[in-house]
Amino acid sequence: MANKIVVGTQWGDEGKGKITDMLAETADVVVRYGGGNNAGHTVIVGDERFELHLIPSGILYREKINIIGNGVVVDPTAIVEEMEGLSARGISLEQLFISETAHVVMPYHRLVDLLEEERKGEAKIGTTGKGIGPAYTDKIARQGIRMIDLIDPDGFYHKLQDALSYQNLILEKIYQAEPLKAEELIESLQPDINKLKPHIVNTSLLLEQAEREGKKIFFEGAQGTLLDIDYGTYPYVTSSNPTAGGVCTGAGIGPTLIDDVIGVAKAYLTRVGEGPFPTELTDQTGNLLRENGHEYGVTTGRPRRCGWFDLPILKHARRVNGLTELALTKLDVLTGLKEIKLCVAYHYHGKTLEEFPNSLEILSGCQPVYQSLPGWTEDLSAIREYDQLPENAKKYVERLEELLDIPVKTIGIGPGRKEAIRK
Ligand code: GDP
Ligand code: IMO
Ligand code: MG
Repeated sequence: MANKIVVGTQWGDEGKGKITDMLAETADVVVRYGGGNNAGHTVIVGDERFELHLIPSGILYREKINIIGNGVVVDPTAIVEEMEGLSARGISLEQLFISETAHVVMPYHRLVDLLEEERKGEAKIGTTGKGIGPAYTDKIARQGIRMIDLIDPDGFYHKLQDALSYQNLILEKIYQAEPLKAEELIESLQPDINKLKPHIVNTSLLLEQAEREGKKIFFEGAQGTLLDIDYGTYPYVTSSNPTAGGVCTGAGIGPTLIDDVIGVAKAYLTRVGEGPFPTELTDQTGNLLRENGHEYGVTTGRPRRCGWFDLPILKHARRVNGLTELALTKLDVLTGLKEIKLCVAYHYHGKTLEEFPNSLEILSGCQPVYQSLPGWTEDLSAIREYDQLPENAKKYVERLEELLDIPVKTIGIGPGRKEAIRK
């Protein structure tokens, strides 16, 4: 199977970066198709740690083509900073291409993101504050600015003037904030735009050419299924479609090009930001998972909320993404726990729910129904063969396979590129 999607099945931070990096060894092209620098993907190669936000994880291999598709929203300053950081560490950016039709995250988007969260107060979403929601809002409202506009100086000035005639109304009248001036914005963005110019192309054409040449393409998801604007815990979601369906619209390819959909799932569950989380652990076990798993956000540094693995969520992710296999990450973090719990259904007002509910009100009232499995104490980090895993670790993996009816083909037993088992 040639072309694969790597998609988050939970609330993001499942280890998509690590799995993409690991599997990308056999790929020729790595594509980001959605989200923006709200994402934070960690890849550890030897003793080097990379934190990627907008740039695909394939960038760490010199020879691979890396594409930022039209479904991504790009903050010019953030991406230049990321490019320069990588460049300073000897990573080549020659093969990095950004879609002409990707929308731009403008400084006013970041501003409105923060002001709107502040206005919402208690009801805030807990966004990353990177301007993602407002940028996608303008895209859908047909008043966004695209990468192709940045490289046409006259066009950019006029489009920005138009955009500001609306944005300044919002800033002044709703948030009582200072209005912005087109000239000043352009002046501050121009150095970054100049650096981005050689990378901005028609990436859909590039992908068509790659496909014709028989190249293997990997689509690297950002965020996760439950953060999807359609399939997530709305409104506590991001403003894009991280699910597999987002690949076609976010990369400019057709569904017939996709062979496999790899769902990345953490062996337990985490979430950053607000919103319901039925298996959340606010006790010692939750703290233990957070400390052992180093569960702090890559983008914002916020502590991640931790809980037990949730099967209704995975069944929902299986269906809406059409998963063909699972990559189970961070199994090593469960080492040392006497008992491991698996949520197999929910109790809600005397009823048992087998499926993940669409209603946030129902989800908020759900109590998890647990199955309990025995833990293990052996260190997993040096294990490279499935058979060498402790019996109880294998039982955990096999129980998941059985209940989900999807093969677990990759198992993460440490953060490093090589710390994984192919089953
Ligand atoms: P992403 O956003 O899905 O790419 O995931 P993040 O990078 O935000 O968070 C995953 C974290 O878990 C990172 O710190 C990774 O280095 C780490 N990680 C990934 N896979 C494993 C694993 O199998 N075991 C351990 N211990 N850490 C892992
Ligand atoms: P990766 O790719 C985890 C969450 C935010 C917030 C909600 C909306 O690293 O898995 P936004 O800034 O997108 O408007 O915030 O979505 N969120 C993520 N949580 N991992 C991510 O990306 C996330 N990207 C957004 O915390 O709850
Ligand atoms: Mg992350």
